Amino acid sequence: MEKLKLDGFSLGSAFIEHGLVLSPMAGATDHAFREVCRAHGASLVVSEMVSAKALCYEQLCKKKKAAEISRTAPLAAVSAEELPMSVQLFGSEPEFMAEAAALLESGEYFGCKSTAKPTAIDINMGCPVAKVVSNGEGSALMRDPKLAGRIIRAVCDRVKLPVTVKMRAGWDKDSINAPELAKIAEQSGAAMICVHGRTRAQFYEPSADWNVIADVKKAVSVPVVGNGDIYSAEDARRMIDISGCDGIAVGRGALGNPWIFEEIIAAERGEEYKRPNIAERLKTAIAQTERMCEEKGEYIAVREARKHVSWYITGIRGAAEARHRVNSVETIEEIKKIAEEISASAEE
Ligand SMILES: Cc1cc2nc3c(=O)[nH]c(=O)nc-3n(C[C@H](O)[C@H](O)[C@H](O)COP(=O)(O)O)c2cc1C
Repeated sequence: MEKLKLDGFSLGSAFIEHGLVLSPMAGATDHAFREVCRAHGASLVVSEMVSAKALCYEQLCKKKKAAEISRTAPLAAVSAEELPMSVQLFGSEPEFMAEAAALLESGEYFGCKSTAKPTAIDINMGCPVAKVVSNGEGSALMRDPKLAGRIIRAVCDRVKLPVTVKMRAGWDKDSINAPELAKIAEQSGAAMICVHGRTRAQFYEPSADWNVIADVKKAVSVPVVGNGDIYSAEDARRMIDISGCDGIAVGRGALGNPWIFEEIIAAERGEEYKRPNIAERLKTAIAQTERMCEEKGEYIAVREARKHVSWYITGIRGAAEARHRVNSVETIEEIKKIAEEISASAEE
């Protein structure tokens, strides 16, 4: 098998080996999942998106008990074990974005649960959700490249950490401007650019256009990370061939399958790859849920873990029925019981 080429790239003082990134996913890339992905070969993980404004406003409420009001700061928590890791900020006001980035860099802010500084600050210019774009945030910034540039410049001027930008191809098919925006981002100080090859109008369907990633790669000299529809090493190979990207960000393809990073690394080394069996997958799902319980408490953790466990059992015989059961579990013991039954029946 021909080897896949992923040399990695530098991001500030960190080296992002293989350039393999866990793409940020709100409601999914929490600390527990990021740690699992790092353990299975992701070389850079990214937090869920964090509202710059909410992080700044939380600072005004210092007199209340942290547990009562600190909803945003925990999303931005960085642990030493998961580095290299970026915290992603979203917002549309340069001042708030810069202030939030400075808080994250200092690690000295109300509600901070970090034990380390992030490797980089990532700026969200791709979120398509109506609630976000109606505030001029996320992918709405692709319609206002000047403001996008001012935000990147303001953040870069305020922090020493590298600043990266995640964008889409453009707003819609008539305004594909990722190459232009990437140039603005580079001129404004961005150290790396991640491109999801879809427009805002497309949300997550149909398939991503990797040619846009190639156009961005030609437009800038900072590392370009390609994103969209990577579910196997073969997909990664095709994306690299088409776009010449320096790294690959995997989102949905890592849900329930953090081993995708190992699969890509194996292809890079020209080695065979064998997907773990269901018992191993469920062991990882449970370890991840236990970690979530430590951090969020069992009540919240188990509810959030339902979807992760469902992703881990994708493709097994009887998955639909198992998923139905998982969707109503209330305790980690129930998850363990279902996992034991699935593993036992898989061995029969
Ligand atoms: C549930 C979900 C949540 C997401 N949240 C974020 C986010 O917080 N920030 C961001 O930049 N992109 C977010 N994305 C987009 C992904 O990072 C990624 O760009 C997109 O899913 C395409 O990559 P994929 O095909 O590998 O999933 C999210 C995607 C999904 C499916």
